[in-house]
Amino acid sequence: MKNIIDVELKTRTVDPTKCRTDLLAVGLFSDVKELDRLNRELNSKLDGAIERLIKLGDFKAKEGTNAVVYGNDSIGAKRVLLVGLGEKKKATLDTLRKAASNAAKKSVEMKIETISLALHKAFGGRFDLSAMGRAVAEGAYFGSYCYDEFVTESENGRADSLKVELIDSDSAKLKKINKGISSGIAIGKAQSYARTLANRPANVINPATLAAAAKEMARDSKRLSCTVFDEKQLAAKGMGGVLAVGSGSQNKPRFIVLKYKPTGKTTPAVLLRKRSSGGQPTVALVGKAITFDSGGISIKPAANMDQMKLDKSGGIAVLATMKAVAEMELPVNVYGIIPSAENLPSGTSYRPGDIITTLSGKTVEVQNTDAEGRMILCDGLSYAVKQKCDIIIDIATLTGACMVALGKYMAGLMGNDEKLIRQLQKASEDSGEKVWPMPSSEEYAKEMKSKIADLKNIGSKWGGACTAAAFLRQFVGDAKWAHLDIAGMDIFSKPTEFSAEGSTGFGVRLLTTYLMNLTTQKT
Ligand code: BES
Ligand code: MN
Ligand code: ZN
Repeated sequence: MKNIIDVELKTRTVDPTKCRTDLLAVGLFSDVKELDRLNRELNSKLDGAIERLIKLGDFKAKEGTNAVVYGNDSIGAKRVLLVGLGEKKKATLDTLRKAASNAAKKSVEMKIETISLALHKAFGGRFDLSAMGRAVAEGAYFGSYCYDEFVTESENGRADSLKVELIDSDSAKLKKINKGISSGIAIGKAQSYARTLANRPANVINPATLAAAAKEMARDSKRLSCTVFDEKQLAAKGMGGVLAVGSGSQNKPRFIVLKYKPTGKTTPAVLLRKRSSGGQPTVALVGKAITFDSGGISIKPAANMDQMKLDKSGGIAVLATMKAVAEMELPVNVYGIIPSAENLPSGTSYRPGDIITTLSGKTVEVQNTDAEGRMILCDGLSYAVKQKCDIIIDIATLTGACMVALGKYMAGLMGNDEKLIRQLQKASEDSGEKVWPMPSSEEYAKEMKSKIADLKNIGSKWGGACTAAAFLRQFVGDAKWAHLDIAGMDIFSKPTEFSAEGSTGFGVRLLTTYLMNLTTQKT
C-alpha cells in the first residue's frame, strides 16, 4: 500500500526574488492592471517574461488558474508559478487559502517536492497576518492531498512528498504569520486524515475498524480518551436505533465516544462564566458514520451506489476535529460521539414497518430503511443529552433532499438556538466551508408523527432535509442544538482546481474554527 503524500510546512526569512527554490508561487489579481512590487521586481529580473505572458493573454489571473514562468540566473527560483486570485475587491481569506491549494496541487502534479509560497504578499495589509498564515497552511495541505493508497503501479503520478515554505523578507512579519501556521498545520493534517478515512472503501472501514482507528488516534493525546460500545453494550444501554440499522450486516455496529478534557489552568474566564450552574460548558459533536449505505431492505438504485462508502463522512469529520482540538490543546470540553453501522439488506435486517425503541425511550416506526442516518443519530443525540452537554452539533450526510435544495456548494444548517447558528455562520465565513440556514420548525415536525408509534422515520415527499432535521430536533431536550446536513459536500465529488476527487473532509475546518472562536470570543 502506498503512503498518502507527506507534507511539511515551515516559514523562512528570505527575499522572494532571491529565494533558491524549485518553485516560487506568487499571487496576481485579475482586476489590478499594474504588477505589484514583488511581481514587478520578478518581472524585471526575468526580462519582462511575466508581462509578456500576460500580454499574450495566456494568464488572466482568474481564481483557480495558474501559469508557469521559468527562472533565470537573476532570481533564485527555478520556476515562478503565477497563481490567479480573481478580483481584488472580492478577495477574502478563502481566496488566499484556495491560492495555496492551487499552487500545492499543481506542484504535486508536476512532481516538484520543494516549493516556496509568497502568495500572501499580494494581499498587502488586508488581513491579519496570523490568519493569513493559517489559511496558507490549510490550503497547502488541502491542495496537495490525493487519495491513491491502493494504486500499486510503480510509476507515481505525483511527488512522493512536499516540503512547503512560506517566505517573506521581513522576519517580524513572519513571526506574526507563524502564530497562525501551527493551528493551520493541525487543521490541515486533521482534514487530510479525515479524507483518507472517508475515502477508504467499506471493505476496509467498517464500524469495528473505524472504532479501532478512533482508539489509535486518541492514544496520541493525553487529553483524549476513547470508549467504544460493541453490540452487546449497545443492547444493554438500549441504543435501539443503532442496533436496528446495523442488524443486517455481519459487520456489527459500534458507538464511539471520544472525550477531550483541557487542562484546568488554560480555561478562559469567559467560559467559566458561561454556565449558571458553574463549571465549563461542554460541547458535543455528533457525527453519522454509516460505513456503507445500500439503503437496506428499501434498497437504493445501483447507479453510483459505490459513493455511499462516503456516508460515514460526518462521523469522520467529528473524529478529525477531535484530533485537531487535542493537537491545539483548545481550552474547551468536547465530546465526539460517533454512532456507526453498515446499512445492508439481509435476512437479519430491520424492515419497513418495524417499531424501534430508541435510547431516549421514544419509539420510531420505520417506513423506509434508507432513512437510517436519523435512526443512529437520535441515539447519539440522546447520549449527548445524558452526558449533560450544553451545546450539541450534529453533522451528517443525511438527505439527498438537502443536495437538491443547496447543490454541492453549501451544507444545510438547522438548529434551535439563534446564537449557535450565528456562531456557526461566522465559523463558516472564517473557514471557507459554506453553510446555509434552513428551517426545522413545528410544521416539519408534525410530518414525522406516527399513528402507531411516537415518530416515523420519513415525512412527505417535500422538504426532506427539513423534516429529517425536525426529527432529530426532538431528541435534544433543552440543549442548544445545531444540525449540519453535508450530503452534497463529499458524495459525487469531482476534482477541482483546488482539490482532488473524493472526500473533501468537509466539516473539519468548520467545526474546529467554531471551537477556536468559542475560546477566544469576548461574550
Ligand atoms: N445517505 C443518504 C443521503 C444521501 C443521498 C447523501 C445521496 C448523499 C447523496 C441517506 O441515508 C438517505 O438515503 N436518505 C434518503 C432519505 C429518504 C429515504 C427519506 C434520501 O435522501 O433519499
Ligand atoms: Mn440511506
Ligand atoms: Zn445514509
